[in-house]
Amino acid sequence: MNKYTLPALEKMGIRPGARHGLPVYHIENPYAEAEISPYGAHVLSYTPKGEKDLLWLSEKSWFEEGKPIRGGIPVCWPWFSDAGTPKHGIARIAMWEMETARVEADMSTTLIFSLDRQAFCGLTARLLVNVGPALSLALRTKNHSTSSRTLSEALHTYFAVKDITKVSILGLEQDDLPESEKLFPNFRKGRLTFRQETDLVCYPDEKTLVIDDQGAGRKIRVERAGSATAVVWNPWIAKSKAMPDFGDDEYKTMVCVEAANARDGVVGIIPGSAHTLRTRISLI
Ligand code: BG6
Repeated sequence: MNKYTLPALEKMGIRPGARHGLPVYHIENPYAEAEISPYGAHVLSYTPKGEKDLLWLSEKSWFEEGKPIRGGIPVCWPWFSDAGTPKHGIARIAMWEMETARVEADMSTTLIFSLDRQAFCGLTARLLVNVGPALSLALRTKNHSTSSRTLSEALHTYFAVKDITKVSILGLEQDDLPESEKLFPNFRKGRLTFRQETDLVCYPDEKTLVIDDQGAGRKIRVERAGSATAVVWNPWIAKSKAMPDFGDDEYKTMVCVEAANARDGVVGIIPGSAHTLRTRISLI
């Protein structure tokens, strides 16, 4: 399946295994534990030492080829939402190749996954995941075709929270919303709170958003780079009930804060060039 032998991986603190039948790599280093599946190049968990998992995973998630995993960090690529079919692109339901594994000088761990063998309209994708004092992801898209391509994408991170009614997102202003959403309530002085279904595609200049999880007494910093768009999503009551792979009450313990390039923030990539979308997630 990959060029590394089991002892070579184990020496790096990387243990191949399976979760509900899908392959996963379990990583442990001095900073954190994490679990990443080559199916979707999907980060399933990131738990800094002595802390609880920063990521959320649904009890009802599919773990089945052809269906997306609900939780962790789905990679939406090469389009976001309904800009194509299947929704959120092909990357989250494709088996990626784990091409590089290494321990960095600071003892953090890097895995690099690629979709190179499955160029999509001439675009290839590579995802670098670094597990250290922060969890960093860099999604690089290269255009190998002879014409320009338009890309939309997201690192669709599901964060674990204690109680959504006590959560606020800091760093977003009502002005960051498109005209059609300007009247969305629940914004107070740079704080977005949750009282209803929230599905906001925003364009904040601010590159750092903070999830203030008062119920858990913790704050999570979400940094973005190469990202014009931030998406904040909580399905609330009716939509949770309507989704077969999402528990009726699970909306209470999750929130998505996504580094993206979507809607008015899509990226044009000329032939031969590349674009990288990054996010960095850490506890404050
Ligand atoms: C969010 C979108 O990013 O993803 C929402 O803004 C969407 O509109 C959500 O419902 C989940 O999508 P899916 O395909 O994983 O159910």
